[in-house]
Amino acid sequence: MRIRVRLNGRTVEHDVEPRLLLVHFIRQVARLTGTHVGCDTGNCGACTVLVEGKAVKSCLMLAVQADGKDIVTIEGLANGGGLHPVQRAFIEKFGVQCGYCTPGMIMSACALLASIPSPSEFEVREALEGNLCMCTGYEQIVDAILHASTLDRGHGGPRRAPQAPHGRLGHGPGDPGRASGTTEAGHGR
Ligand code: FES
Ligand code: FES
Repeated sequence: MRIRVRLNGRTVEHDVEPRLLLVHFIRQVARLTGTHVGCDTGNCGACTVLVEGKAVKSCLMLAVQADGKDIVTIEGLANGGGLHPVQRAFIEKFGVQCGYCTPGMIMSACALLASIPSPSEFEVREALEGNLCMCTGYEQIVDAILHASTLDRGHGGPRRAPQAPHGRLGHGPGDPGRASGTTEAGHGR
């Protein structure tokens, strides 16, 4: 079955098996390996991406269900070489140890801050319920997200980004990011 998605601002069109999970589409077809697979069963949150701006565990969604949708992965956050405020906050507050959970944590944080720009600690912890970390004890991660909520408001702040840069998925031949027949994800913008 042929699907077309907007992935980090680029159109990716490809034939997929109906059973292919979105996380495997992202990693194996689009070759964006920043999205991790921890459990493959919806428990760990390592595979979290944004679909239409909402945090989604991509191991719980079929690629065909993403047809026509905007998807943002961890690779889509940095803008022109500059880290997204949430990425900077994770570095500044030491929210990373082994890093396996980090892409999923950051994508969940982005979804949270897009809907609640100044969350309470409780709201941060609630938003991370579906994301497991084996290393940090969560304290630095929560600190990082609270810190991110105070950063860089002059540039759109942590609410920036989880949007495809060229707008929504186009279906006409004039779509500037359109790749015909093959994957055109690239690695960044
Ligand atoms: S790999 Fe998707 S929730 Fe663990
Ligand atoms: S930093 Fe290692 S699992 Fe979270």
